[in-house]
Amino acid sequence: MSKLFTPITLGPLTLRNRTIRSAAFESMCPGNKPSQQLLDYHRSVAAGGVGMTTVAYAAVTRSGLSFDRQLWMRPEIIPGLRQLTDAVHAEGAAAGIQLGHCGNMSHRSICGCTPVGASTGFNLYSPTFVRGLRADELPDMARAYGRSVRLAREAGFDAVEIHAGHGYLISQFLSPATNHRHDLFGGSLENRMRFMDMVMDEVMQAAGTDMAVIVKMNMRDGFRGGMELDETLQVAHRLEQSGAHALVLSGGFVSKAPMYVMRGEMPIRTMTHYMTCWWLKYGVRLAGRMMIPTVPFKEAYFLEDALKFRREIKMPLIYVGGLVSRQKIDEVLDYGFEAVQMARALLNEPSFVNRMKAEENARCQCRHSNYCIARMYTIDMACHQHLKEPLPPCLQKEIEQIEKRQAAYGDR
Ligand SMILES: Cc1cc2nc3c(=O)[nH]c(=O)nc-3n(C[C@H](O)[C@H](O)[C@H](O)COP(=O)(O)O)c2cc1C
Ligand code: SF4
Repeated sequence: MSKLFTPITLGPLTLRNRTIRSAAFESMCPGNKPSQQLLDYHRSVAAGGVGMTTVAYAAVTRSGLSFDRQLWMRPEIIPGLRQLTDAVHAEGAAAGIQLGHCGNMSHRSICGCTPVGASTGFNLYSPTFVRGLRADELPDMARAYGRSVRLAREAGFDAVEIHAGHGYLISQFLSPATNHRHDLFGGSLENRMRFMDMVMDEVMQAAGTDMAVIVKMNMRDGFRGGMELDETLQVAHRLEQSGAHALVLSGGFVSKAPMYVMRGEMPIRTMTHYMTCWWLKYGVRLAGRMMIPTVPFKEAYFLEDALKFRREIKMPLIYVGGLVSRQKIDEVLDYGFEAVQMARALLNEPSFVNRMKAEENARCQCRHSNYCIARMYTIDMACHQHLKEPLPPCLQKEIEQIEKRQAAYGDR
């Protein structure tokens, strides 16, 4: 018997089935506030049958913004978010929101200050100078997470997902590759977890007894010198002790191993096509291939590592990474994961969950060109299969070539 369409309880929240729309940055929030486009998109995913949809990547402070079309949690956006959660609830799904701080992955023009991170340095990927946060600034930063959880509750969200992976602020503290501190927040793993512990104290207090708290974390950072399983398993144990209700197991660092997160190839031509800043456009066209190396995609690419967590960690675990077929989702759930998250499958087909209900062999049409990712950095997130206008021929060619290479790799 498939568990897929059975309810699942995560802390105080019960979902109608085991599917969650993973936090995938929509880039639909001009002025850093929710838009009708954001609401319509999440309503369509909710109507498509998911147990919960997650609004992506909301910054807990202005300094945590890395894009100008990204949500920034503040009281004046609550009414707009409330309309979104009402629309999602009306479709029978729960609503979650991912809360985070980008740390060193920003630019003064967007975040309004010199970007801050775990350590002082230069981030080549932004590119920008970064100021290491002082220890006396950290309690305030942790409180900003708690404040954002309270705002999320006011807006009617059922769950928050704290972003502790992908090389953003908490992850920058956790990873020895980005944390070069010599104080109580650097050095040993215990010290590197201290900022995360402070954040989780604030978050759990703010969440109270009626909101689910999910944490997205890295199983591996995805490059030499980053975190590996020996340490991340300890991070998971710590999060379990903190009272979090579920973990989403991911990996990769957007600044050092971006395709480790999502796998496949980045369509560089497409990415630069949408960029408006001329020096960035030409810089990325010249160095993009080297800075964003391909990491081959395969279905359920994180499963092997995630199973090691499943064996050691008792709390609910949510699998994410490369799910495109009902068969694989059933297999993952049979291994004991409580739920699954999908980003690209639901971007490609917002009603994929409903179709899986009807078809045991359902498979979505995502062919992992990563067009949606290349575009998201500059304009809104969209799948090239659903655009009203045809793609310019040079982009069409790049996407088709990537899909062909992906298919050939998959056939091996
Ligand atoms: C367009 C796009 C935007 C993404 N933005 C985010 C994000 O804001 N936060 C995050 O944690 N992960 C983000 N991701 C990663 C996804 O949540 C997910 O972990 C990853 O894509 C693997 O899942 P999939 O194979 O189902 O796409 C993004 C992925 C895509 C495709
Ligand atoms: S743009 Fe490509 S990778 Fe993204 S959802 Fe569509 S088919 Fe999948």
